Amino acid sequence: MMSDIVAIYGSPRRKGNSSTLLKRAVAGARGAGVNVDEIVLRDYKISPCLEIYGCKKEGECAIKDDFQVIRDRILAARGLMIASPIFFYTVSAHVKILMDRFQSLWVKKYWIDQTPFNAWTPTRKGFVISVGATRGKKLFDGMMLTMKYFFDVLDMELWDSLLCRQLDFEGDVETHPEYLEAAYQRGRDFAAAVREG
Ligand SMILES: Cc1cc2nc3c(=O)[nH]c(=O)nc-3n(C[C@H](O)[C@H](O)[C@H](O)COP(=O)(O)O)c2cc1C
Repeated sequence: MMSDIVAIYGSPRRKGNSSTLLKRAVAGARGAGVNVDEIVLRDYKISPCLEIYGCKKEGECAIKDDFQVIRDRILAARGLMIASPIFFYTVSAHVKILMDRFQSLWVKKYWIDQTPFNAWTPTRKGFVISVGATRGKKLFDGMMLTMKYFFDVLDMELWDSLLCRQLDFEGDVETHPEYLEAAYQRGRDFAAAVREG
């Protein structure tokens, strides 16, 4: 299925804080009339990158599992909304495992096709949602740096991010209607931005 936007749920908790926010963003995007393809990462079997560099030949990952299905769905879309909790100051393991398998596309882009660094045009847009328990200023810095280079591989520009501190237990976000509202509105605005191209 060709979709306008793919929404990736990166928390192991189906009803966790980042999932709740992403669900609101998906509702906002759908309300704006775009197709959204939802992917709950914990429902897929994806091996970590094994660094065998089978991808050196043609940019195709040698490990055959659910990665290929998810990769094709992401590459078919013009926008990506991705939600991750902060785990040890970066993305969740589910998200990181997916990201590392995209090394096959990095190899294609920079080694096989020899695209010069910083000399490509973004063709897609990305929207990041993240939540963490603490309130530190640098809480999202590591995660955002990781996202930046993940988006680079996908020829994607960061459109915006919704970063919410001091959310820990499942359901905590429900006591913050302002976050839920922001997620809905950002989802709606992201849909408009993706449609405009
Ligand atoms: C393995 C693990 C590591 C975590 N590391 C951090 C951390 O480094 N900083 C922080 O503020 N919260 C940390 N947390 C708390 C989560 O970010 C917080 O509970 C968040 O609300 C979970 O989001 P979710 O409900 O979307 O899964 C950690 C939680 C777990 C389970």
